[in-house]
Amino acid sequence: MRIGVLTGGGDAPGLNAAIRAIVKKCEKYGFEVLGIRRGWAGMLEGDAIPLKYEDVKDIIGFGGTLIKTSRTNPLKQPDGIKRISENFKKLGLHALIAIGGDDTLSVAKAISDAGLNVIGIPKTIDYDVPETEHTIGFDTAVNEAMHQIENIKATADAHERVFIVEIMGRHAGWIALYSGLAAGADLILIPEEPFSISDVVNFVKKKIESGQKSLVIVVAEGALIKDYKGPITKDVKVDQFGHVYLGGIGEFLAKEIEKALGIETRHVVPAHTIRGGAPTALDRVISTRYGLAAVDLVKEGRFGLMVTLKAGKITTVPLSDATGRTKQVDLELYNEAKVFFE
Ligand code: F6P
Repeated sequence: MRIGVLTGGGDAPGLNAAIRAIVKKCEKYGFEVLGIRRGWAGMLEGDAIPLKYEDVKDIIGFGGTLIKTSRTNPLKQPDGIKRISENFKKLGLHALIAIGGDDTLSVAKAISDAGLNVIGIPKTIDYDVPETEHTIGFDTAVNEAMHQIENIKATADAHERVFIVEIMGRHAGWIALYSGLAAGADLILIPEEPFSISDVVNFVKKKIESGQKSLVIVVAEGALIKDYKGPITKDVKVDQFGHVYLGGIGEFLAKEIEKALGIETRHVVPAHTIRGGAPTALDRVISTRYGLAAVDLVKEGRFGLMVTLKAGKITTVPLSDATGRTKQVDLELYNEAKVFFE
């Protein structure tokens, strides 16, 4: 029996751990593994490489993904599903394990609906896939972001400056909230609760007037300004899943504060540096457990499912339950954190 594995969307630390576990468990069951290269692009083109445990046994600690990734969306092509079905056959696949976020998993659902044997594994540093307590990469991204915010705090303190740190998070502020809380940020702004520039300016003014000399404000890249027409973007171009290239809110906010208060305000954008690091132990372990569980599902002949972590246990949900919506930050949690923003 031959099993395909692909990684789609933004890379995330822990992908290699999942691939390694899939290959290990497949070898145990006597299954062959094909690594489909560059996500759905590889399925459209039939681009795959055989994977043996020997090839992957030492990759658990590396960020990125051995089999590459892309944001290719087959659903944007009139014959996308047909080409995937044909290549599924040509490659001799019995099943495909697709590791990705909502975009990748939505394609997995579509090809599962078309009758192919598919299992999904949730991955995204943004943590916005519903029905799971763990998405591959989130823990690492939070820890990386936390360290970078702490570094900024030190230099902000030394120079008595205001800093804005812009953190990845397209529709959900999970990374900004967790890393900002963990690093002791003065204020955290997330997409779930649009903010007004004047409120932020007044907050900085109040802090400075009360004697605080330096401030670090964390803002998620997708944070929304009240009465502004959507998030701040770098480019008007959209990718194949319709996502704009976000970025710029940190710089925008820094300029507004400087303009309003005449206080030197810097901005920093860690961006992809929080996505490319070596996975934390948690990301390595859960990714490994996801990979092992996905192969067990293949063995049991159970498809159209996503493996998931619930109350510490690996279980499954139908792909249809886990796709087509975004898991945003619970405002109760955000409100709880606000005691630190007073
Ligand atoms: O992986 C999710 C994500 O990190 C978002 O937070 C961010 O907006 C996006 O990917 C950036 O993607 P790309 O690397 O394709 O620009």
